[in-house]
Amino acid sequence: MVLGLETSCDETAAAVVQLDADGKAHLLSDQIYSQIEEHTLYGGVVPEIAARAHVGALDALIERALTEADITFVELDGVAATTGPGLVGGVMVGMMAGKAIALAHDIPFLPINHLEGHALSPLLAQQGGDEPLRFPYLLLLVSGGHTQLLSVEGLGQYTRLGSTIDDAVGEAFDKSAKIMGLGFPGGPALERAAQKGDAARFTLPRPLTGKPGCDFSFAGLKSAVRRAWEELPVHNDQARADLSAAFQAAATDVLANRTANAMDIFAKTHGPRPLVVAGGVAANTVLRMRLMEEADKKGFTFIAPPFSLCTDNGGMIANAGALHLRAGYQGDLGVSARPRWPLDEQAAKASPASGSGKKGPKS
Ligand code: KG4
Ligand code: ZN
Repeated sequence: MVLGLETSCDETAAAVVQLDADGKAHLLSDQIYSQIEEHTLYGGVVPEIAARAHVGALDALIERALTEADITFVELDGVAATTGPGLVGGVMVGMMAGKAIALAHDIPFLPINHLEGHALSPLLAQQGGDEPLRFPYLLLLVSGGHTQLLSVEGLGQYTRLGSTIDDAVGEAFDKSAKIMGLGFPGGPALERAAQKGDAARFTLPRPLTGKPGCDFSFAGLKSAVRRAWEELPVHNDQARADLSAAFQAAATDVLANRTANAMDIFAKTHGPRPLVVAGGVAANTVLRMRLMEEADKKGFTFIAPPFSLCTDNGGMIANAGALHLRAGYQGDLGVSARPRWPLDEQAAKASPASGSGKKGPKS
């Protein structure tokens, strides 16, 4: 059994995962404290406040995660924590707590890349009678800090096919929502507003769409939302709904187009396989429907984890730790927190401008 700690952004989370003999992951407990209230006043995540809130919440969450799983520290085989990428003050809180537990109980400390946690989260979602998900699969990772297409070939084997050259899509959701005064966090608020909107009222750009390759761009779309909002004579709820719908349609088009290109590239090597979506923006229903259609067209099966596993959580970190432990990794107490940590270091060197693995504050 592995305890997983997640503190890289504005969610403090602790969870316990157990792998069974068939390698299936079981989530024995899943505790999460969302810091939304602490940050709402500022309209975005404030790194210093986030770090302090993690310190305040983590110990009790760990205790609750163990109680919920009905175990004590001595039954743990390892402790995993996000050691990057993320807001470094917060990352250090989870990492140091994890190292302390590992030292005190003489078990391995498993440093986990937050992106790998997301990338492997669909394995954790597979419960009950589901046909088990197997490598390789194509992953669209869409969160507040990242937008990437990854070929997931095995544990520790990730090839980045494309990533954002400017803003992450979650950031574009959050900033567009902020422009329209929809509150924080912006993604879910914007999706709700869009339900009553008419996307056709505004013509917004779809950066990079129709071009070859799998990179993304969202900065131009966000600026277009700002311009459209500022030019409106009346800023009422209908305007919010219509512009939200137009933004969501444009963002979804960009994601769908780049993912379609990635499926073509991926299929050349692996044939049609599962297309998996993960990360906070994967909670968006319109996006899920659209990706399902695109996957269908290319003969891929579409897999989306439940909402609770899409956004940041401790289960995905415990799961990644448990998989590494089973693969023979013995842990490392000497690691440092990494604000930037690309999942595929090779690709990062080849193209430093795109998707450095940095996860900044959402604002
Ligand atoms: O994965 P996550 O919890 O944290 C990061 O690693 O960044 O993702 C958070 C992001 C935020 O930008 C949030 O606005 C977005 O996911 N998000 C959504 C939805 N729910 C969360 N975006 C669009 N539609 C949603 N329903
Ligand atoms: Zn995340």
